[in-house]
Amino acid sequence: METLKRWIAESNRIVFFGGAGVSTESGIPDFRSVDGLYNQKFEYPPETIISHSFFRRDPEYFFRFYREKMLPLGFEPNITHKKLAQWEAEGKLSAVVTQNIDGLHQKAGSKRVYELHGSVLRNYCTRCHQFYPAEFIRDCPGVPKCACGGIVKPDVVLYEESLDAETLEKSIEAIQAADLLLVAGTSLTVYPAAGLIRYYRGDRLVLINRDETPYDGYANLVLHQSLGSVFSQL
Ligand code: OAD
Repeated sequence: METLKRWIAESNRIVFFGGAGVSTESGIPDFRSVDGLYNQKFEYPPETIISHSFFRRDPEYFFRFYREKMLPLGFEPNITHKKLAQWEAEGKLSAVVTQNIDGLHQKAGSKRVYELHGSVLRNYCTRCHQFYPAEFIRDCPGVPKCACGGIVKPDVVLYEESLDAETLEKSIEAIQAADLLLVAGTSLTVYPAAGLIRYYRGDRLVLINRDETPYDGYANLVLHQSLGSVFSQL
């Protein structure tokens, strides 16, 4: 903790790279913990349901699952989101790169947020590209349809879909320029997102995660603690 505190005090281009573990303390379950989404029983594996081909094949089922399990509306940022926004405002943090789709970093006040997997807050008609808010998806019965008749699709990266090229590029640029890379609340098992941390060139890569990750041996400092307990000391 003392090392982390010192490194943060000495840094002014911190980049935070996070995942679902950042929002569990706001009440949104993650994917791979024992109580995570992927350890619950469904008719199909969740990775299948939230894939592009399944979305095309059975949009009715997709939206039922999505509404119930993936549309995290009404949650509030926690101490981690808030502290990161504060560091950005103070000129210490240059970007948040997140795999989360819940919009909580922006809700906490963060401005430069690269959402690798998109956001539930943006939804577009697949035919005419008309924008719709998340509440429209939540309140629609069945498959959400645009006035033009097209299906309204969340701007969320499904399995089999590629990541947005500009978001990827900006994330890589920020990570390459970082003086401290803080990786937290992610199992680092989903690619290409997890591979981005390899673009960091410095010697202050900090990993904060409750469980072990495949990158523990790669980091300069590892804390197996909950984010709330770490960030409340920073
Ligand atoms: P995971 O569920 O795979 O990993 C979350 C990690 O956060 C786990 O290793 C937990 O131990 C840790 N964790 C949970 N709560 C924590 C807390 N309060 N403090 C510290 N650590 C905590 O989530 P991601 O790595 O984000 O992709 O998953 C990556 C991607 O897999 C997601 O973006 C999603 C999913 O499929 C798509 O939907 C495309």
